[in-house]
Amino acid sequence: MKNHKSIAIDGPAGAGKSTIAKLTAEKLGYIYIDTGAMYRALAVYFLENDTDINNEAAVSEAVKDAVVSIEHIGGEQHVILNGRDVSGLLRTEKVGDAASKTSAYKAVREHLLALQREQAKKADVIMDGRDIGTAILPDADLKIYLDASSEERAKRRLRQLEEKGLPAGDFDDIKRDIEERDYRDIHRAASPLRKADDAVVIDSTHMTVPEVTECIERLMKEKTEASIGD
Ligand code: DC
Repeated sequence: MKNHKSIAIDGPAGAGKSTIAKLTAEKLGYIYIDTGAMYRALAVYFLENDTDINNEAAVSEAVKDAVVSIEHIGGEQHVILNGRDVSGLLRTEKVGDAASKTSAYKAVREHLLALQREQAKKADVIMDGRDIGTAILPDADLKIYLDASSEERAKRRLRQLEEKGLPAGDFDDIKRDIEERDYRDIHRAASPLRKADDAVVIDSTHMTVPEVTECIERLMKEKTEASIGD
């Protein structure tokens, strides 16, 4: 029997999934689960252990020794890698790039599958990633495919870097990097990024953050009311 509510949000890098999921979780009183952070934690493990991230066999062997768990402290998700909180190490381009490459490997995805599913059994969750609606939570109450043009996503990334006071780099380089990641996520054999058949597409290119969260809240309310009526 399914006890807890779940919302799956999938979509390409930079579409605003984490911002939207975090806010919606706060409003609805759900726990936000960032699955990309788990792939990033494994990437930290491979980089720190000098695993050749282009070698699937080496990564598949190395991943066996990486124990990832998550904790929620004050509503924030922390990722624990072999007993160490690595949350502060996840947001670099190097780690993102390694996560994008290694998340294509079947053994890496299987390593995180049970952990991700367990979270949805423990609480009402809003989970974001690439394969949540298609593979991790196929029975989610609501599935969203959040998209935006690569131009707009590159603009947002540039703005984020500038706000953090980090070297922003060149717009065209950022856009190319986003498009390369999209290509890898969409074309990999293991759980590629794709819209679940029953997902609602929200194109956020011309939408504000509150507009998107309100849209998701409304959709969830409709689902809940419909299920009460069943
Ligand atoms: O969402 P993010 O940028 O933090 O994700 C990092 C990488 O992990 C991204 O390149 C795609 C991959 N990923 C995935 O394959 N499946 C998920 N459910 C989440 C992330």
